[in-house]
Amino acid sequence: LAVVAVRDDLRGIRTVVTAGGTREPIDPVRFIGNRSSGRQGVAVAVAAADRGADVTLIVAHVDDGVLGQAVGHPRIAISTVATAAELSAATRAAASAVDVVVMAAAVADYRVAEVADLKRRKEDAGGDTVTLELVETEDILAALVAERAGGQTIVGFAAETAADADELHERGRRKRRRKGVDLLAVNEVGWSKGFESADNALVIIDANDDIIASPSGSKREVADALWDAILGTRESRSE
Ligand code: CTP
Ligand code: CA
Repeated sequence: LAVVAVRDDLRGIRTVVTAGGTREPIDPVRFIGNRSSGRQGVAVAVAAADRGADVTLIVAHVDDGVLGQAVGHPRIAISTVATAAELSAATRAAASAVDVVVMAAAVADYRVAEVADLKRRKEDAGGDTVTLELVETEDILAALVAERAGGQTIVGFAAETAADADELHERGRRKRRRKGVDLLAVNEVGWSKGFESADNALVIIDANDDIIASPSGSKREVADALWDAILGTRESRSE
């Protein structure tokens, strides 16, 4: 006999979760992208919805196979974006009406200054090197923090490379402060670490710079631990 505990502890919570990686066009056939699969963000959305939350899941370039259980979930509405600018518009519009925003998407830091209408051709480059001018994209998290409604919890993610745990934690603390988020979930990445895998490990840093959890396991287990941390933060603030 299997006893399955059904948790309902996020009922009444409205949340926006972003997942995947944006792509910035170079020309009609090329883009600048990143290696985010969207698995961790989708797991965060599904965990929330399974625990009773109403979820808007905004995805950028997430495969159908990764979306999996999110598709058709009675408490998940999915919207699809491509670029950082589209992700910003969709997230900021949806965020005004929710209690918790989780920015798990990998957002391009730069976009191409002038997107070519026609395919760029080697014969037009006039040499064996080319230079693409890039301009910074908007920092969506910073905009969300600036626009936040009272009582809203904002959670960022950071994929970091680090020499050791101390450096990872220090980078996480600095980024948490710079972003002004309530919680920052840091995961270590490398050439063969963190992206396509089913498992993940996070360090969760709160607004006091404390590491309040270090979950590892399946992306769903890690997602549940993140929601436990979010709930804990919200409860301690309302006391
Ligand atoms: N983020 C964002 N808008 C951007 C870039 C990042 O909202 N233009 C969000 C990500 O979704 C993530 C968090 O900021 O939740 C941290 O992203 P990260 O790339 O680690 O931080 P950056 O500030 O871009 O710093 P860097 O890439 O230089 O480490
Ligand atoms: Ca970045």
